[in-house]
Amino acid sequence: MAKRSFLAIILAAGEGTRMRSAIPKVMHKVGGDPMLGHVIRAARAAGADRMAVVVGPHAAAVEAFAVKAAPEASVHVQAERLGTAHAVLAARKAFAPPPDDVIVLYGDSPLMTEATLTALRKKLIKADLVVLGFTPADPAGYGRLLMNGRQLTAIREVKDATPEERAVRLCNAGVMAFRGSLLPMLRKIGNINAKGEYYLTDLVELANRAKKTVAVLEADADEVAGVNDRAELAAAEALFQRAARAKAMAGGATLIAPETVFFSFDTRLGRDVTVEPNVIFGPGVTVADGVTVRGFSHLEGATIAAGAIIGPFSRLRPGAAIGEEAHIGNFVEVKNAAVDKGAKANHLAYIGDAHVGAGANIGAGAITCNYDGVSKSHTEIGAGAFVGSNSALVAPVTIGDGAYVGTGSVISQDVEPGALAIARARQVNKPGYGEKLKAAKLAVKAAVKKG
Ligand code: UD1
Ligand code: MG
Repeated sequence: MAKRSFLAIILAAGEGTRMRSAIPKVMHKVGGDPMLGHVIRAARAAGADRMAVVVGPHAAAVEAFAVKAAPEASVHVQAERLGTAHAVLAARKAFAPPPDDVIVLYGDSPLMTEATLTALRKKLIKADLVVLGFTPADPAGYGRLLMNGRQLTAIREVKDATPEERAVRLCNAGVMAFRGSLLPMLRKIGNINAKGEYYLTDLVELANRAKKTVAVLEADADEVAGVNDRAELAAAEALFQRAARAKAMAGGATLIAPETVFFSFDTRLGRDVTVEPNVIFGPGVTVADGVTVRGFSHLEGATIAAGAIIGPFSRLRPGAAIGEEAHIGNFVEVKNAAVDKGAKANHLAYIGDAHVGAGANIGAGAITCNYDGVSKSHTEIGAGAFVGSNSALVAPVTIGDGAYVGTGSVISQDVEPGALAIARARQVNKPGYGEKLKAAKLAVKAAVKKG
């Protein structure tokens, strides 16, 4: 098959009043990414070589996100909300030159898959127009698909339907694919209906009148779920997580309690990764083969090399790069820092804006003091260095390769390789003073009691 040009039109003008939010609906997140991002990725993965995003007026945030997520996309403003056909026509500048295939998608249906979009395009080889249908448990307000054999003859919006038409269970999921040659037909759509809107769905009847082949592709109800309120947002999130967990396991990861692990849209796991219960992957995490992420860890923007052990109770923040076989233990936070091969920070530490060399050991309670209230500074810890417990490394500072930092030190000057740095008051023992001190305190207490 010759490569067919493909224009995806994403309607993202929904106000989302039922979200009760200051944020436009399509910007609400599922799996750590705005819903619009999911739809853009599905369209791109299905081979869209052109993309048009239709936003509402005063939707600067949506526009900015669309430009960033899809630099190839054109953004169009639908100034008035006059219906789905009117919304598609707002993108008319993207119609030339006419593409072979057009798919119209909704920005508030984040679970749409590449596979379904590809299946729609495949059906377009034989049909002129293909509507994505589904059979919801409750057909409620969905447009009903009226069939004549395999030909779809009309989509009837509920408000315009007769009782017999309302009884139809096969419904319009909202995604429509058609040949680019049908684009001029959009202008013939009128607004004589119960809502006084220009309905994109009327394209079906117009195509029938022009003797075009109009087909239906049935989708899974879960995949076409649209989000209109917070409960539906949570339902979409649950479906996203279920799919992400299945994908992780299919890719060779062990999830001990899958239902307690949360992924982001871009989480990447290698093979033989074990994830213990109650782990959260925020956006931007890549995990190599053979890594163990132990329970109750929270990771975002982190890269973990093969064989490392993270957790339990670790926190990896953006810019954490954990090397092969390194260990990051309980209550250890790493931010914008590389921890090289085999290095260990097993308990209660903060490593921020730093580089920890291979095989170094960071003791319990050691921290980098990276922030002075105004700016951030770097801490360099050499390979094989040993940072004693409860040390404070005041950045900018360098601990040389193989150096030792004595427990409880406040290090504010560089330590040369192989040296021992102790920066704490020397201990003084005074024989017999313990007993004397106690006697003196008891005497004071007795005097106070007497009055
Ligand atoms: C639409 C379909 C219906 C289908 C249902 C699936 C039409 C006429 N009806 O109904 O057959 O079963 O979706 O969810 O298409 N939009 C704009 N500008 C507008 C109007 C709508 O951008 O002027 C966008 C909305 O933000 C939304 C989408 O288009 O993302 C659908 O619009 P909506 O008003 O929700 O249509 P439904 O009544 O749900
Ligand atoms: Mg709707």
